[in-house]
Amino acid sequence: MHLKTDELCRVIFTLNGRERSGYAEPRTLLSDFLRHQLGATGTRVGCEHGVCGACTVLVDGRSSRSCLMLAVQAEGKKLQTIESLASADTLNDLQQAFRKHHALQCGFCTAGILMSSTEFLANVPNPTEPQVRDMLSGHLCRCTGYTGIVNAVLEVAEARSHEVSRPSNKQLENNNV
Ligand code: FES
Ligand code: FES
Repeated sequence: MHLKTDELCRVIFTLNGRERSGYAEPRTLLSDFLRHQLGATGTRVGCEHGVCGACTVLVDGRSSRSCLMLAVQAEGKKLQTIESLASADTLNDLQQAFRKHHALQCGFCTAGILMSSTEFLANVPNPTEPQVRDMLSGHLCRCTGYTGIVNAVLEVAEARSHEVSRPSNKQLENNNV
């Protein structure tokens, strides 16, 4: 298929559990499509060439620089952005930990770091501090010095490990405990 650069393509994907669609030029970046076409402005755009990590979103569960992807490459995929983390007015545990540990100041890097941390904790539930710092090496934060971010991620990992090991009320009922 040959497309002129200003020709519009229909793009359909799942965004935060809902099917969304719009029209994009073949050269439109996913970050711009999310923000300008779909109004998902929680995704930030910093360097626009893959260095700062501000634009990180999850694509089929994997953290991806949305400034390095074309919108048309997201066709048929499952995307997750920062808008998916809180439910109604309640921040999720990672967001609350960031607030508690002063893991953000200007907040420009925060959405991207939260999305990378979300994927990281799903894959590495009991990380060491060096592992957290290694994950954060893909993100530039000019404000915090990273210490609060590291502490927040480690605290959530620790808290979640207790949740997993604690039996639910249902399990207790089934076991007649
Ligand atoms: Fe995408 Fe910086 S805006 S990595
Ligand atoms: Fe300002 Fe990270 S909080 S760049």
